[in-house]
Amino acid sequence: MASLLQLLPFICLHFLTVIASFSSSNQTPKPYIVYLGSSSKIENGEAEDTELAHLQLLSSIIPSEESERISLIHHYKHAFKGFSAMLTEEEAFALSGHDEVVSVFPNLLLKFDTTRSWDFLEAEAGERSRSTWSNYRNHQPSTDVIIGVIDSGIWPESPSFNDKGFGEIPSRWKGVCMESPDFNKSNCNRKLIGARYYVANKSDTGSARDYDGHGTHCASTAAGAHVANASYYGLAQGKARGGSPSSRLAIYSACNAFGCLTSNVLKAFDDAIQDGVDIISVSLGFNQPYLHDPIAIGGFHAEQHGVLVVTSAGNAGPLPSTITKTAPWVFTVGASTIDRNFASTVLLGNEKSFQGSAISFSNLTRSKTYPLAFGKDIATNLSVVSQARSCSIRSVDPNKTVGKIVVCISSDSTIPWELFTRLAEGYILVDEDYKYVPSDSGLFPFAVVGNSDGSQIINYINSTKNPTATILPTVEVPRYKPAPVVAPFSSRGPGAFTENILKPDVTAPGVAILAAIVPDEESDLAGEKPADYGFMSGTSMACPHVAGAAAFIKSLHPTWTSTMIKSALITTATVYDNIGKPLKNSSGYYANPHEIGAGEISPPNALNPGFVFETTTEDYFRFLCYYGFSNKIIKLMTSTNFNCPKKSSHELISNINYPSISISKLDRHKAFRTIERTVTNVGSMNAIYTASIQAPSGLAVNVYPEKIEFAENVTRVSFKVSFNSKEADSGYNFGLITWWDGQDNYVRIVFAVNVE
Ligand SMILES: *[C@@H]1O[C@H](CO)[C@@H](O)[C@H](O)[C@H]1NC(C)=O
Ligand SMILES: *[C@@H]1O[C@H](CO)[C@@H](O)[C@H](O)[C@H]1NC(C)=O
Ligand SMILES: *[C@@H]1O[C@H](CO)[C@@H](O)[C@H](O)[C@H]1NC(C)=O
Ligand SMILES: *[C@@H]1O[C@H](CO)[C@@H](O)[C@H](O)[C@H]1NC(C)=O
Ligand SMILES: *[C@@H]1O[C@H](CO)[C@@H](O)[C@H](O)[C@H]1NC(C)=O
Ligand SMILES: *[C@@H]1O[C@H](CO)[C@@H](O)[C@H](O)[C@H]1NC(C)=O
Ligand SMILES: *[C@@H]1O[C@H](CO)[C@@H](O)[C@H](O)[C@H]1NC(C)=O
Ligand SMILES: *[C@@H]1O[C@H](CO)[C@@H](O)[C@H](O)[C@H]1NC(C)=O
Ligand SMILES: *[C@@H]1O[C@H](CO)[C@@H](O)[C@H](O)[C@H]1NC(C)=O
Repeated sequence: MASLLQLLPFICLHFLTVIASFSSSNQTPKPYIVYLGSSSKIENGEAEDTELAHLQLLSSIIPSEESERISLIHHYKHAFKGFSAMLTEEEAFALSGHDEVVSVFPNLLLKFDTTRSWDFLEAEAGERSRSTWSNYRNHQPSTDVIIGVIDSGIWPESPSFNDKGFGEIPSRWKGVCMESPDFNKSNCNRKLIGARYYVANKSDTGSARDYDGHGTHCASTAAGAHVANASYYGLAQGKARGGSPSSRLAIYSACNAFGCLTSNVLKAFDDAIQDGVDIISVSLGFNQPYLHDPIAIGGFHAEQHGVLVVTSAGNAGPLPSTITKTAPWVFTVGASTIDRNFASTVLLGNEKSFQGSAISFSNLTRSKTYPLAFGKDIATNLSVVSQARSCSIRSVDPNKTVGKIVVCISSDSTIPWELFTRLAEGYILVDEDYKYVPSDSGLFPFAVVGNSDGSQIINYINSTKNPTATILPTVEVPRYKPAPVVAPFSSRGPGAFTENILKPDVTAPGVAILAAIVPDEESDLAGEKPADYGFMSGTSMACPHVAGAAAFIKSLHPTWTSTMIKSALITTATVYDNIGKPLKNSSGYYANPHEIGAGEISPPNALNPGFVFETTTEDYFRFLCYYGFSNKIIKLMTSTNFNCPKKSSHELISNINYPSISISKLDRHKAFRTIERTVTNVGSMNAIYTASIQAPSGLAVNVYPEKIEFAENVTRVSFKVSFNSKEADSGYNFGLITWWDGQDNYVRIVFAVNVE
């Protein structure tokens, strides 16, 4: 089960790695993607022509004596056009200037942004959801919604993917079940309706089978079937299920243990759109400009085909501006905790006890304690004290850890886990942020405590001649409060590429999520059969919660478009925790929209949002204009007669019809800024909504009209919001506009305004 690596408090890191260290010569061909924009034709006959056109374009650049390079090509031809190829830097540069080319960029690796969570979300929806639920009690959710998961593949034998109760596969489905020696057609079924895999090159053998576990975990979180008595070796025992158990899954295996090649991820998008998925869940990422990012490119074209793309915010928090995937056409999800903690109690020789957090099957008991040592007291004589306090590599003397429980203060430097698990008896990490993020340490006794408990433990060591302690095995703490709390690793806004779209959009559970895993044959819990379910943390886990929620809404509102569903989830998100207080971050401060977006999703409430913000394809086209892309690029990407508005500036991005408002620069000396939004009624006819505003003092916010009415046959109305910052504090001002229909419907619009 738990490998030593899993001890790392940070389960899924989010960063980018270059696929290989290339020779410095710019004459050596390297893998690139050549992106050619929109494909107006999706029929196969035309696709053949597209391939031919790619080859012609390529042979105009590659010298004929190296034509074998042309055979390595990977084509995109359904929803968008482009190819991957081995190019020299010079060739890449030459191609990027070509009339038909949007962008040429290196084929880098994306990284993974690594169950009770569902019950928690429903309980949190509270009173209001009960009335919504009762309206939908007799509705049978449709089984026609298809979620495409672009990830590391699938473990099809998991009970979460059984197809009991599913009827025929929807006839519009055009996908396939790709075979390989370890995966045959019978591994697909009426639940797991498609599986494709992608390879890096001709010598790479691929498979839709998941050998990492990330893809299986994400797929079962989004749409796993009901499975009774799921647990991780008895921990978190209960019924497991995904967000939309009635939905089907299509798997696009674009990753291996090292990450996911950009070329594969793009191909997966192209296929998924063509196959007919409704929603794509993609828990991967890196931080690249829009036209070098397969999720931004794939997501743009998916949106044009009506497919909702849900993706993870990244795990680079808690610092600001760490968020990735900030394009308005993707649904970006941050991570939060759920109301379940895993407590590993630290018991000191003086009988004091502290509730630490971890997932460990320690065999230590109350009755026996072990010598307790602080890192700096077991340092090598060459080490720097601050390093020894955090036990960074080579700062502690391995011989002095033998038989002891070691206490270290968290730091960014690498901790020699291997050393501890081999020689020490147990390990206590003092980490304020990670006290909410239990890590799996297998059999090794482990606990993370916060700063205040940590200093008490260190004081005890400091003031005691022979300090001792023990760490008890993990017990589950249900109904943990407060929850949700923003996960420390969850990447924060504002976006690095534009601050005029509020990101993340929402948060969802992403800490210690129980879902299906790849059973590890070398279970180190002696005598136990390998677990089918396991814990993972990361915005990777939050993403499929939202994909599942979106599928759930679509299964009850089959005619709703992707932007209606996204808007419904955003405007009904909650900003309160389970003690009725505003959501906090892991240091106990109220969380702002750069941490949580509109808040924690509340799927039952999103079934009945009142009205929605439809962001149109034209809105996204205008985004390209306002962002400053050239006319050539916009023509290629939109392949319509669309023309940019005469006035184009980065600031105008705030005007696109998004369900939240972000203004990156509001000059206090200038007149106010007015933003217009248009909304579509999906609730009862003749509804009248009244606005109320919560804004920081000093920022004058006005909405007009203050009342909007959806008279009979009127489905769309517009309103304006003006911001006047003359008296406001400098920096980001956050607030909320709430439209209320006098009954059950509250439509909340979060705003973020940066005053200068
Ligand atoms: C396909 O795989 C299943 C499960 O691994 C196995 O039981 C079955 O015999 C295989 N079928 C074929 C045709 O290989
Ligand atoms: C092909 O891909 C595999 C797997 O990613 C890699 O190990 C190998 O080096 C690649 N070979 C070539 C020729 O690029
Ligand atoms: C549930 O799972 C636990 C742990 O895996 C097992 O001990 C128990 O027998 C199971 N109970 C049922 C009713 O299957
Ligand atoms: C929590 O919010 C406060 C106030 O905004 C900030 O100073 C702190 O760094 C945040 N902590 C985390 C872990 O995000
Ligand atoms: C705990 O398990 C370890 C092996 O993991 C074993 O060496 C040790 O004797 C066990 N201790 C107790 C108290 O059972
Ligand atoms: C520590 O210091 C002692 C005496 O100052 C020296 O003999 C010994 O080699 C040092 N040990 C290490 C690991 O540097
Ligand atoms: C640890 O102890 C072993 C055996 O007693 C010895 O060989 C080794 O040098 C010691 N290591 C350090 C870093 O002191
Ligand atoms: C105990 O802690 C105090 C304050 O940090 C420090 O000055 C003192 O040296 C410590 N005593 C021991 C024995 O480490
Ligand atoms: C609403 O539309 C229907 C059908 O078009 C029409 O019969 C009806 O008169 C309209 N009602 C109002 C108030 O305009």
